Amino acid sequence: MTQVAEIVAERARRLGPLPFDEVVDLALYHPEYGFYSSGGEAGRGGDFLTSPEVGPLFGAVLARALDDWWHDLGEPDPYVVVEAGAGAGTLARNVLEAEPACSPALRYVLVERSERLRDIQRGRLPMEPAGQVLGPAVVTDPDEGPHAVPGIGPLVTSLGELPQGPFVGAVIANELLDNLPFALLEKDPLGWSEVRVGAQLGEVLVPTSPALERRAEFLAPDAPRGARIPLQDAAADWLRGALAVVDRGAVLTFDYADNTLSMAHRPWTEWLRTYRRHGRGGHPLQHLGGHGITCEVAEDQLDAVQPVVRHRTQADFLVEHGLEVLVDDARRAWQERAHIGDLEALRHRSRLSEADALTDPSGLGAFKVLEWIVPG
Ligand SMILES: C[S@@+](CC[C@H](N)C(=O)[O-])C[C@H]1O[C@@H](n2cnc3c(N)ncnc32)[C@H](O)[C@@H]1O
Repeated sequence: MTQVAEIVAERARRLGPLPFDEVVDLALYHPEYGFYSSGGEAGRGGDFLTSPEVGPLFGAVLARALDDWWHDLGEPDPYVVVEAGAGAGTLARNVLEAEPACSPALRYVLVERSERLRDIQRGRLPMEPAGQVLGPAVVTDPDEGPHAVPGIGPLVTSLGELPQGPFVGAVIANELLDNLPFALLEKDPLGWSEVRVGAQLGEVLVPTSPALERRAEFLAPDAPRGARIPLQDAAADWLRGALAVVDRGAVLTFDYADNTLSMAHRPWTEWLRTYRRHGRGGHPLQHLGGHGITCEVAEDQLDAVQPVVRHRTQADFLVEHGLEVLVDDARRAWQERAHIGDLEALRHRSRLSEADALTDPSGLGAFKVLEWIVPG
């Protein structure tokens, strides 16, 4: 039995069956034994491959997107970009290495819940104290008060939770929301029940409160018997928090996404998945803490927080922000250097295969990029 399983069993003996989201939270984020605290991570040497871990191309396109938004916002300085769920810092590193035009104005804030991963970030990126990156840097005019010094970016810092706003810029999150804890409901002949976890680490169905029943019926009316749906309150809360720190700018998330009603009509094991060492794991309650647990994002539940302004696939998003230009450059450079066959030539060639992986309609290319605007 894993340590997380022991903790869950002990709590369930004391308190009765535990809500599913509490169990997912322990399994992924227990400070000592949770999946992310004890070695789980994205990457080729990790457990699952995310877009930034495919190679530097995703970050290079994102750097262009940051420039596009910066120009749209009137080239503010400072320009704050918060990357939430930043993992080991790969995307941040690739964005900065692409040297976007906004760099002198850029304040890049990595937000990562896992202390272990924040430590890894610090070894990979030059970090400044948060106050220096986000706070006012000097007072030149006592009447105007302190203000940030322009043109000294890029400055990078790392935090365990979203910074205090409000600021002008963007909050981005790649595969964060699909890793936030969620509750699970099941439709039975008498109505909706909550899936909880008992002391034997098995599922226990508990009738929902009338309020929860109404909510489930609203989200998935007339769902078939046996249907399951996730309730993604942690994702909705995260979105509320992210929107609150942006004074003017945007929030963008990249995840597998669907909507609750459609999920009710699909087998739940399709949208609730477990991963370990690049393979699919078993039932989420097996090996608690030993595998990643991920749930497709129910877009309608986020839309209820604030309507999504734009919704497109990752493939479309990347093309819109210049993927094809970067790929054409790489193809030309590869053709010029192929006869040399040096590292640089190989780097250009691998960009071509990265592009295929990032836009694959049956893989990462089908991710949904959800965008919310804060007009200011
Ligand atoms: C699936 S990984 C994605 C990592 C990275 N974004 C990538 O695409 O490779 C999700 C990350 O989000 C982090 N995380 C989970 N909840 C968080 C929260 N509330 N705030 C910040 N980070 C969080 C996890 O620790 C984990 O590193």
